[in-house]
Amino acid sequence: MSSLTHALGRSQFGNPANKGNLIPLEEAYSLLNEWVPNERLHLHMQQVAAVMKAWALEKEGADEQTARMWELAGLLHDADWEKYPTEHCRVIIEKLEEMNVDPDLIHCIASHGPRYFGVEPVSNMDKMIYVFDELSGFIHAAALIRPTRYEGMDVKSVLKKLKTPSFAAQVSRDDIHDAISRIDHSLEEIITFIIEHQKNVL
Ligand SMILES: [Fe+2]
Repeated sequence: MSSLTHALGRSQFGNPANKGNLIPLEEAYSLLNEWVPNERLHLHMQQVAAVMKAWALEKEGADEQTARMWELAGLLHDADWEKYPTEHCRVIIEKLEEMNVDPDLIHCIASHGPRYFGVEPVSNMDKMIYVFDELSGFIHAAALIRPTRYEGMDVKSVLKKLKTPSFAAQVSRDDIHDAISRIDHSLEEIITFIIEHQKNVL
């Protein structure tokens, strides 16, 4: 097990009085433009956002407002990674608390890496960002080495690469399996969903 490299030291985030408060997507994008010059990281967050939104709408029966919360969580979860790597994700959490954003959204970001931040995923939104985060990046890495990228990519080839430790070695297989063990969906189903929903986010 990894040690808590980025322990947040608390499990309560935001103010319950702010429930329902979201920021416009444009505001999230302008924050990203300011904090995340790295295009690859920018793209990663857009991909996780697209997959989160699609999952909320298709699998959770979410309304538009809830789907936007899932999307914002994806869009902002690594917002402070490039500028404040040692304080990730404390800085974005404090920023969103200052902005009086819905506590569920802040908790979701705080729990996207329980083995690093020490915050357990509780809601479905929390659990799904943990599931999607590493796998989304992994599948994108797999797409980049294929001549046809996402076109014709299948689940089997992704599963095979997951079993190849040298491929995208920085992606924690332990995190992926831990995340999947917390939900009632198979790894295969999740991989299929990600391929389908992030292939057009380029
Ligand atoms: Fe991420």
